[in-house]
Amino acid sequence: MSQAEVSAKSAAVAADIPDALTLLEADHRTVEKLFDAFEMAGDDNLEAKATLAQRACEELTIHAIVEEELLYPEAQNVLPPDEKPDVDEAYVEHFLVKTLIAKFETLKAGDKGFDATFKVMSEMVQHHVEEEEDEIFPALRRTQCDLLALGKKIAARKETLQGKLDAVGSRSVGDRS
Ligand SMILES: [Fe+2]
Ligand SMILES: [Fe+2]
Repeated sequence: MSQAEVSAKSAAVAADIPDALTLLEADHRTVEKLFDAFEMAGDDNLEAKATLAQRACEELTIHAIVEEELLYPEAQNVLPPDEKPDVDEAYVEHFLVKTLIAKFETLKAGDKGFDATFKVMSEMVQHHVEEEEDEIFPALRRTQCDLLALGKKIAARKETLQGKLDAVGSRSVGDRS
């Protein structure tokens, strides 16, 4: 294999590994699709709404954990002082979204408040995602942060959390013990 072929191959391999922000943006798109599907589900299609709400809550729970454990601390370290308040706000927004997610432990599809809670949760998440993708992520891309290394850590942590969720169910995924 020539030198050019070797470097083309390693570039292709590198391209297969998403950096941290590409990976998190893909999560955002996944959740948005679930929000759209919920919106499209018929009012009386309780089974679909229950499934979509559960999947959205699981996705968001895992996503919030990896951002809080791995991305936000790194962002607090590397971002310039004028960008750090965006990260402080992101933590607060996560807190609010997690409070709404917790409501689905007792709210069932068809209950009064189920649709309203899901709608408010999706609006809050959409606002939060916009702030991440318009402010925090571009600011991080301007730093020297090793986003590929961070992406590897995030992917590994997501896999562990997903395995835990598959084994014991969604209510235990937030249990970090
Ligand atoms: Fe976030
Ligand atoms: Fe995010």
